[in-house]
Amino acid sequence: MRGVILLSVLLCATCHLALSATNGTAARNGTVADGLLDNGNFESAPNATNMKGTVVVGRYAIPGWINEGFVEYIKSGQKQGDMLLVVPEGAYAVRLGNEASIKQAIKVIVGLYYSITFSAARTCAQEERLNVTVAPDSGVLPIQTVYSSNGWDSYAWAFKAIAAVIELIIHNTGKEEDPACGPLIDAVAIKALYPPRATNKNILKNAGFEEGAYIFPNTPWGVLIPPNIEDDHSPLPGWMVESLKAVKYIDSDHYFVPQGRRAVELVAGKESAIAQIARTTIGKTYRLSFSVGDANNSCVGSMVVEAFAGKDTLKVPYESKGTGGFKRAVLTFLAVSTRTRVMFLSTFYTMRSDDFSSLCGPVVDDVKLLSVHQP
Ligand SMILES: *[C@@H]1O[C@H](CO)[C@@H](O)[C@H](O)[C@H]1NC(C)=O
Ligand SMILES: *[C@@H]1O[C@H](CO)[C@@H](O)[C@H](O)[C@H]1NC(C)=O
Ligand SMILES: *[C@@H]1O[C@H](CO)[C@@H](O)[C@H](O)[C@H]1NC(C)=O
Ligand SMILES: *[C@@H]1O[C@H](CO)[C@@H](O)[C@H](O)[C@H]1NC(C)=O
Ligand SMILES: *[C@@H]1O[C@H](CO)[C@@H](O)[C@H](O)[C@H]1NC(C)=O
Repeated sequence: MRGVILLSVLLCATCHLALSATNGTAARNGTVADGLLDNGNFESAPNATNMKGTVVVGRYAIPGWINEGFVEYIKSGQKQGDMLLVVPEGAYAVRLGNEASIKQAIKVIVGLYYSITFSAARTCAQEERLNVTVAPDSGVLPIQTVYSSNGWDSYAWAFKAIAAVIELIIHNTGKEEDPACGPLIDAVAIKALYPPRATNKNILKNAGFEEGAYIFPNTPWGVLIPPNIEDDHSPLPGWMVESLKAVKYIDSDHYFVPQGRRAVELVAGKESAIAQIARTTIGKTYRLSFSVGDANNSCVGSMVVEAFAGKDTLKVPYESKGTGGFKRAVLTFLAVSTRTRVMFLSTFYTMRSDDFSSLCGPVVDDVKLLSVHQP
């Protein structure tokens, strides 16, 4: 898998420009503001006296962070064997060796939900996993599937703040023979989440996916919402990712989005599904309508989105030219339970036609669920 991290230096030149506009430490009343954490992109370097080659010496060497274990400070363009390491945000990133971690204390508002977004790249290890913790919550994010052709992906994870100061820990659970095989981490950001409610216009919450994880203005690859996410701690409030693989959260700055500024791309075929449970009345007829489209990301082919509402299903074919577009689909069903599971998945796997290596898929957006008033 060497060579995966190869990336043109051009891409990073653009990253660097956009970066100077961001200041993650700005906060109104002392609590953290949405955006990069303090030195969240690791651009503030350890002092030379705290470096032994690329290895960081001392727990407090990286400004803003506390590190444990074998942590390296990586400069974009650094070589590892025949692999060129490139960094998405600015010029620096860190690498977490076996059982190494980085952590930061963050002032938050007690009771609010927050989403953490960070970028990670697998290097040589195959089965890499990161344990993200904000006590008492933690989640293990698998990073073995690479969705972007340059090797970097961004991941989201959410927690509920139960104290005014929380500690975020990103820990590499790996046990590779070569500690230099750990994942690279860069661009760690936070965003407060305001979980939307169902309304009399739509009994699904966050049905247009507008509320969700922080998306970096300068990363064009969206944010992965990892699998096994339950709805009360979802970086995509209201929605669960119950499948084995992630779904991708995309924004209108970088993709075609059917409605509003955000949507979901089903990037992993049947292994990638989003679901929400709606309160329904037994015996009533409901109408589930939604948009199926493509994200204007060279994802070309015959796609099918399968929609489920309780025991009813609908397969929606969509011919994608990969240039952006959508159609509406409707599934009408009779509720047989007071709780109806609404779920979407993609029947097929699709690869981008521009690089033949990135997984992509149909986009789902603008979901509406309402009972049909019979005359
Ligand atoms: C970020 O914000 C802090 C606090 O407002 C300020 O002291 C610091 O100079 C800012 N940094 C940059 C790079 O703008
Ligand atoms: C900051 O403001 C929010 C609401 O605007 C409030 O709930 C919170 O307690 C404040 N935090 C601090 C540390 O003053
Ligand atoms: C780096 O060195 C300067 C000067 O000795 C010191 O003030 C600063 O705290 C050091 N920074 C870190 C992160 O250790
Ligand atoms: C993740 O880390 C937390 C805190 O260190 C720990 O409590 C939890 O058991 C870890 N999870 C796994 C699956 O290792
Ligand atoms: C698709 O992207 C291209 C270039 O990135 C842009 O010119 C075009 O307007 C986009 N199409 C849609 C439907 O957004």
